[in-house]
Amino acid sequence: MGTRDLWADWLLARRFPDEDRRPVLAYLGRIRDKVLDNAGLLGGETLLDVGCGDGLIGFGAMDRGAGKVVFSDVSQDLLDTCESAASELGLADRCRFALASADDLAVIESRSVDVVTTRSVLIYVKDKEQAFAEFYRVLRPGGRVSLFEPINSFSRPVSPGWLWAYELPGLEPLVERVGSVFERNQPPDSDPMLDFDERDLVRLAEQAGFGEIQLQLTIEVKSPGPRSWESFLRTVPNPKVPSLGDAIEEALEPHEREELIGRLRPLVEQGRGRVRSAVAYLSATSG
Ligand SMILES: C[S@@+](CC[C@H](N)C(=O)[O-])C[C@H]1O[C@@H](n2cnc3c(N)ncnc32)[C@H](O)[C@@H]1O
Repeated sequence: MGTRDLWADWLLARRFPDEDRRPVLAYLGRIRDKVLDNAGLLGGETLLDVGCGDGLIGFGAMDRGAGKVVFSDVSQDLLDTCESAASELGLADRCRFALASADDLAVIESRSVDVVTTRSVLIYVKDKEQAFAEFYRVLRPGGRVSLFEPINSFSRPVSPGWLWAYELPGLEPLVERVGSVFERNQPPDSDPMLDFDERDLVRLAEQAGFGEIQLQLTIEVKSPGPRSWESFLRTVPNPKVPSLGDAIEEALEPHEREELIGRLRPLVEQGRGRVRSAVAYLSATSG
C-alpha cells in the first residue's frame, strides 16, 4: 500500500512473508503476554505503550482491565489504525493516541501513567538514554516499565561465509556483497538496532533512576527449520531494509545470482542452517 508510511506499510503488510499470519501472530501474542505479566498491570491503571504499532500490547492491556491506554507512535497511520480498532471495539473513551517519539514524550504529562510498555521499539531509537529518561519522567512514583527488545548484536554473522542463517563456504565475495546492501541501510557500528546489548539495557534503566530492575535474557542457537524459497525471498526483516530477494537482486549479476541461489536454496528448503537469536525482557520500578 503505497500511501501508508514506511512503518505502517511494513507492520501491517510486508513483515508477513506468508499468507498464513497465524504463526507470527501466535509468537507475538506470547511476547505480549509476558510483557504485560512483567508489568504487573492492575485493573483500572493507566498504561502508556510506546511505539504501539497496530496495538498489540495496548489492546492486550485493555483485555486485562486497564483503565486507560495511551497509544503512542511516530507513525500517524498506525495511530489511526489503532484509533479505528478502538472505535470498532467500543473502547475509544478509554484510549488516547499520541504522536511522539520514544525519546521525546513531551505530549505526555510527567507522573501521569502507572505503566510504560514497549516492544521492539528501542532497536529503532538512537538516543536510548533519553528514551529511558522519558519513561521514568512520565511514570508515577512506584510505576513500572516493562519492555522486550531483540538483542540483534548477538545475531550478527559469526564468519564471512554466513548469509543470514546459512553457511556458504567458497562464496564469501558474493555473500559480502549481499550483506553490504543491508549494511548500507544499517551500518553495524552505528545503527541503533545493533549498538546495544542486554547489559546496556540494565545500565540505561539504572541511570534513568529505576530501582528493582529485572532482566531476562533468552539465547537460542537452532535450526531455522525448512522454509519455502518464495517465502524466504519475500522476508523483510525490518522496515529499513529490502527483502532478502531484492537484496540478492540488487547486489549480484544474473550469473552470480544463479550460483548463490543454487547453493542457498537447498539449505533454505531443507532447513540446514543455524539461527542465532537473543531477546531480553526488562522490567523495573520507578522510585
Ligand atoms: C517492530 S514495530 C513494534 C510495534 C508494536 N510495539 C508491537 O509490539 O507490535 C516498531 C514500532 O516502533 C515505532 N517506532 C519507530 N521509531 C520510533 C520512535 N523513535 N519512537 C517511537 N516509536 C517508534 C514504529 O512506528 C513501529 O510501530
